[in-house]
Amino acid sequence: MKALILAGGSGTRLRPITHTRAKQLVPVANTPILFRGIQAMVEAGITDIGVVVGDTAAEMRAAIGDGSQFGPGVTATYIEQEAPLGLAHGVLIAREFLGDDDFVMYLGDNMLEQGLVGFVDAFEGARSSANPPSAQILLKQVSDPQRFGIAVLDDEGHVTTLVEKPEVPPSNYALVGVYLFDASIHEAVASIEPSDRGELEITDAIQWLIDHDLRVRTEILTGWWIDTGKLTPLLEANRLILETIESRIDGSVDAASFLDGRVIVETGAEIVNSTIRGPVAIGARTRIVDSFIGPFSAIGADCEVVHSEIEHSVVMDSSKVIEIPRLEDSLIGSDAVVSRSKRKPRALRLMVGDHCRIDIE
Ligand code: G1P
Repeated sequence: MKALILAGGSGTRLRPITHTRAKQLVPVANTPILFRGIQAMVEAGITDIGVVVGDTAAEMRAAIGDGSQFGPGVTATYIEQEAPLGLAHGVLIAREFLGDDDFVMYLGDNMLEQGLVGFVDAFEGARSSANPPSAQILLKQVSDPQRFGIAVLDDEGHVTTLVEKPEVPPSNYALVGVYLFDASIHEAVASIEPSDRGELEITDAIQWLIDHDLRVRTEILTGWWIDTGKLTPLLEANRLILETIESRIDGSVDAASFLDGRVIVETGAEIVNSTIRGPVAIGARTRIVDSFIGPFSAIGADCEVVHSEIEHSVVMDSSKVIEIPRLEDSLIGSDAVVSRSKRKPRALRLMVGDHCRIDIE
């Protein structure tokens, strides 16, 4: 079995962060979202990984490399998509890489609580049955079905109809961004027409399989699932992952500091005269001085937090937060500076990029 990660797309809902960073590489608990997906694939025994990349191809290559950082024998093959023409288009251009193998297709901005082992095993088990499926989809009930591909199930739980982002949703079973296919998907993606949004939809390709009497297995996801492309789900994903961390102190904590709950302090990080109330992750070489870091915060590597209080926030690498009495529910990009100065006149002095949002107390 191979894997195909779709990591094109522009990430408009996470601007301005995604002006300079691929949405799939935004960190959650200090690890890029996509890395968790790759780790889940490797755990499921899949080592031959294709990555469909778009505008952020260079950044993807720099982060993932040849794949070997994810385990022995793991290889990454890059497939360039010239424009965001849809998920099914990603399969179309990956034809040569995929050959006739079964594969798992994974949307790089999706995060799942559970791994892929059970999902892959269920498909492989069913593939050797008398009535083998051509595809397997994963569904989760959602409260905002207009935002997703939606499946209609019959009384026995078999999928009958799939529709992409319906205005009037026929059910609330959303398609999670993890799919399993056999080689029949190639004829499907080559046969469908672009949707109203001008994309070849994987939802339509799966409908094509159903319409051609090919079996599509469904599984209902029990754990949490987050499509991370927006601020609130991103902070929620950060919170859910931090809930699962184990304490690990590889950096230094001085005698005047107090660590409470589960806290990760990476190598070279320094905690000076500060209180850290977990779950919190502090990145390598970051300095926390005279500060409070509250629950569900992830501070990246090479940051400086001085005389400030931060809670329920993500601060990316190489940023500074200086003299800020309270920062909450915030996402700070990398190399950013948030500071308070004593310069007169007292005023807000901002250099704010496109698509930023600033909420003053
Ligand atoms: C895509 C799929 C949709 C699926 C969703 C899951 O939507 O088209 O069917 O439910 O991913 O994240 P998009 O991310 O393109 O809006």
